Amino acid sequence: MQNVIVSKHPLVAHKLTKLRDISTEPKKFRELVREIAGLLCYEATADLETMPVSVTTPLTETTGVHLKEKIGLVPILRSGLGMVEGIWELVPGAEVWHIGLYRDEKTLKPVQYYNKLPLDPTVSVCLILDPMLATGGSAVATVDILKNWGVRKIKFVGLIGAPEGIKALETHHPDVPIHLAAIDERLNEKGYIVPGLGDAGDRQFGTG
Ligand code: URA
Repeated sequence: MQNVIVSKHPLVAHKLTKLRDISTEPKKFRELVREIAGLLCYEATADLETMPVSVTTPLTETTGVHLKEKIGLVPILRSGLGMVEGIWELVPGAEVWHIGLYRDEKTLKPVQYYNKLPLDPTVSVCLILDPMLATGGSAVATVDILKNWGVRKIKFVGLIGAPEGIKALETHHPDVPIHLAAIDERLNEKGYIVPGLGDAGDRQFGTG
């Protein structure tokens, strides 16, 4: 698991515990997803390239930096949507490109149903957003899509990873760093992460 970066930040651990709690209602759940996503994004973007710029303060001229790279956020529909706002607060200029994948209940394999990426890439760095890295099928498929699109710098940002999903993503795409709030024990027979937090989509959108 050399590619996995699990946040050690106490705020992340505290908020994740509340997120797991069965009694946390959708409004609070959405708030926590947004906040944890922002904290993880802060860590995941620590190596972004910058370029020097001059800036005039009320007192003098000095040098600072601007981000050099154009960032794309790629939430996997639908549960990745809740992570966008928290990251957009930190990176307001990021483009958001949605990828729709659902997991076939029988095969547990991802099926693509939404992808409106233009022909040529418009960003140089992509953060794939999906709260749960379960089997890894959706994550692997999304990295495939983004690499075919022409993006070379791709990171995965999720809340909880199962060992199975981490292994799948690392095996297929060893160049993609995986940022998580926690690694859990395992997947159950229905493909849910244990102990996990249940269905991240249902819990955000109140559809469970
Ligand atoms: N997707 C979820 O929402 N939860 C899981 O535990 C696994 C996949």
